[in-house]
Amino acid sequence: MHKVAILNGPNLNMLGIREPGVYGKESLAIIEGMLADKAAQLGVSVSCYQTNHEGAMIDRIHAAYGQEDGIIINPGAWTHYSYALRDALSAVSLPIVEVHLSNIHKRESFRHVSVVAPVAVGQIAGFGAIGYTLALEALVSQLNRERV
Ligand code: DQA
Repeated sequence: MHKVAILNGPNLNMLGIREPGVYGKESLAIIEGMLADKAAQLGVSVSCYQTNHEGAMIDRIHAAYGQEDGIIINPGAWTHYSYALRDALSAVSLPIVEVHLSNIHKRESFRHVSVVAPVAVGQIAGFGAIGYTLALEALVSQLNRERV
Protein backbone atom coordinates (compact mmCIF):
# COMPACT_ATOMS: atom_id res chain seq x y z
CA MET A 1 0.00 0.00 0.00
CA HIS A 2 1.36 3.41 -0.92
CA LYS A 3 2.07 5.74 1.97
CA VAL A 4 1.58 9.47 1.50
CA ALA A 5 2.59 12.32 3.81
CA ILE A 6 0.18 15.27 3.84
CA LEU A 7 2.04 18.30 5.14
CA ASN A 8 0.68 21.74 6.00
CA GLY A 9 2.80 24.73 6.90
CA PRO A 10 2.32 27.94 8.86
CA ASN A 11 -1.10 29.35 9.72
CA LEU A 12 -2.95 26.44 8.13
CA ASN A 13 -4.01 25.29 11.61
CA MET A 14 -6.19 28.44 11.47
CA LEU A 15 -8.22 27.32 8.44
CA GLY A 16 -11.92 27.99 8.90
CA ILE A 17 -11.12 31.06 11.02
CA ARG A 18 -8.45 32.65 8.86
CA GLU A 19 -9.77 34.80 5.96
CA PRO A 20 -12.56 32.36 4.99
CA GLY A 21 -13.26 34.43 1.86
CA VAL A 22 -9.78 33.53 0.60
CA TYR A 23 -9.12 30.11 2.14
CA GLY A 24 -12.62 28.67 2.61
CA LYS A 25 -14.75 27.71 5.60
CA GLU A 26 -13.34 24.21 6.10
CA SER A 27 -11.06 23.60 9.08
CA LEU A 28 -7.86 21.59 8.64
CA ALA A 29 -9.54 18.75 10.60
CA ILE A 30 -12.36 18.66 8.01
CA ILE A 31 -9.84 18.62 5.15
CA GLU A 32 -7.88 15.82 6.83
CA GLY A 33 -11.15 13.87 7.17
CA MET A 34 -11.85 14.34 3.44
CA LEU A 35 -8.34 13.04 2.74
CA ALA A 36 -8.85 9.98 4.94
CA ASP A 37 -12.04 9.14 2.96
CA LYS A 38 -10.26 9.65 -0.38
CA ALA A 39 -7.27 7.58 0.79
CA ALA A 40 -9.61 4.70 1.72
CA GLN A 41 -11.22 4.91 -1.75
CA LEU A 42 -7.83 4.88 -3.44
CA GLY A 43 -6.37 2.17 -1.21
CA VAL A 44 -3.47 4.24 0.15
CA SER A 45 -2.54 5.36 3.64
CA VAL A 46 -2.03 8.98 4.62
CA SER A 47 -0.22 10.60 7.51
CA CYS A 48 -1.16 14.23 8.20
CA TYR A 49 1.12 16.78 9.84
CA GLN A 50 0.91 20.54 10.37
CA THR A 51 3.49 22.83 11.92
CA ASN A 52 4.20 26.54 12.19
CA HIS A 53 7.94 25.84 12.59
CA GLU A 54 10.18 25.59 9.54
CA GLY A 55 12.81 23.33 11.16
CA ALA A 56 10.12 20.94 12.37
CA MET A 57 8.73 20.73 8.83
CA ILE A 58 12.20 20.04 7.44
CA ASP A 59 12.68 17.24 10.01
CA ARG A 60 9.28 15.77 9.02
CA ILE A 61 10.22 15.85 5.33
CA HIS A 62 13.52 14.06 6.10
CA ALA A 63 11.58 11.45 8.10
CA ALA A 64 9.63 10.59 4.95
CA TYR A 65 12.82 9.36 3.28
CA GLY A 66 12.68 5.60 2.85
CA GLN A 67 9.40 5.45 4.80
CA GLU A 68 6.81 7.07 2.55
CA ASP A 69 6.19 7.07 -1.19
CA GLY A 70 5.18 10.65 -1.85
CA ILE A 71 4.40 14.03 -0.30
CA ILE A 72 1.50 16.46 -0.66
CA ILE A 73 2.44 19.81 0.79
CA ASN A 74 0.84 23.17 1.28
CA PRO A 75 3.88 25.16 2.42
CA GLY A 76 1.85 28.33 3.19
CA ALA A 77 3.98 31.45 3.00
CA TRP A 78 7.19 29.36 2.98
CA THR A 79 6.23 28.60 -0.63
CA HIS A 80 7.43 32.01 -1.68
CA TYR A 81 10.88 32.16 -0.06
CA SER A 82 12.07 29.04 1.78
CA TYR A 83 15.01 27.57 -0.08
CA ALA A 84 15.59 25.35 2.99
CA LEU A 85 12.16 23.78 2.51
CA ARG A 86 12.72 23.36 -1.21
CA ASP A 87 16.12 21.73 -0.57
CA ALA A 88 14.58 19.33 1.97
CA LEU A 89 11.89 18.31 -0.55
CA SER A 90 14.52 17.85 -3.21
CA ALA A 91 16.79 15.86 -0.84
CA VAL A 92 14.30 13.06 -0.20
CA SER A 93 13.72 12.48 -3.96
CA LEU A 94 10.06 11.61 -3.60
CA PRO A 95 7.23 12.76 -5.88
CA ILE A 96 5.86 16.00 -4.46
CA VAL A 97 2.50 17.66 -5.17
CA GLU A 98 2.20 21.31 -4.13
CA VAL A 99 -1.25 22.50 -3.03
CA HIS A 100 -2.68 25.95 -2.39
CA LEU A 101 -6.25 26.66 -1.41
CA SER A 102 -6.17 30.03 -3.13
CA ASN A 103 -5.01 30.78 -6.66
CA ILE A 104 -1.64 32.26 -5.73
CA HIS A 105 -1.15 33.46 -9.31
CA LYS A 106 -3.99 35.96 -9.16
CA ARG A 107 -3.10 37.42 -5.76
CA GLU A 108 -0.34 39.77 -4.57
CA SER A 109 2.81 39.61 -6.72
CA PHE A 110 4.93 38.14 -3.87
CA ARG A 111 2.68 35.07 -4.03
CA HIS A 112 3.27 34.51 -7.74
CA VAL A 113 6.65 32.90 -7.11
CA SER A 114 6.91 29.38 -5.73
CA VAL A 115 10.43 28.24 -4.89
CA VAL A 116 8.95 24.77 -4.28
CA ALA A 117 7.36 24.36 -7.74
CA PRO A 118 10.62 23.37 -9.50
CA VAL A 119 10.99 20.31 -7.24
CA ALA A 120 7.31 19.28 -7.46
CA VAL A 121 5.62 17.03 -10.01
CA GLY A 122 2.89 19.65 -10.21
CA GLN A 123 0.86 22.27 -8.41
CA ILE A 124 -2.86 22.57 -7.65
CA ALA A 125 -4.03 26.04 -6.69
CA GLY A 126 -7.34 27.84 -6.45
CA PHE A 127 -9.79 25.00 -5.79
CA GLY A 128 -10.05 25.33 -2.00
CA ALA A 129 -10.28 22.19 0.12
CA ILE A 130 -11.02 19.97 -2.90
CA GLY A 131 -7.49 20.76 -4.10
CA TYR A 132 -6.09 18.36 -1.49
CA THR A 133 -8.19 15.42 -2.68
CA LEU A 134 -7.32 16.28 -6.30
CA ALA A 135 -3.66 16.28 -5.24
CA LEU A 136 -4.03 12.85 -3.65
CA GLU A 137 -5.60 11.47 -6.84
CA ALA A 138 -2.83 13.02 -8.92
CA LEU A 139 -0.07 11.71 -6.67
CA VAL A 140 -1.51 8.18 -6.53
CA SER A 141 -1.83 8.08 -10.31
CA GLN A 142 1.80 9.21 -10.53
CA LEU A 143 2.88 6.48 -8.08
CA ASN A 144 0.95 3.83 -10.00
CA ARG A 145 2.57 5.03 -13.23
CA GLU A 146 6.04 4.74 -11.64
CA ARG A 147 5.27 1.19 -10.59
CA VAL A 148 4.59 0.07 -14.21
C1 DQA B 1 -1.53 29.40 0.67
C2 DQA B 1 -1.10 30.63 -0.14
C3 DQA B 1 0.07 31.32 0.53
O1 DQA B 1 0.44 32.46 -0.23
C4 DQA B 1 -0.29 31.76 1.92
O2 DQA B 1 0.83 32.36 2.54
C5 DQA B 1 -0.84 30.66 2.74
C6 DQA B 1 -1.80 29.74 2.12
C7 DQA B 1 -2.83 28.77 0.11
O3 DQA B 1 -3.12 27.64 0.49
O4 DQA B 1 -3.55 29.40 -0.69
O5 DQA B 1 -0.58 30.54 3.94
O6 DQA B 1 -0.50 28.42 0.58
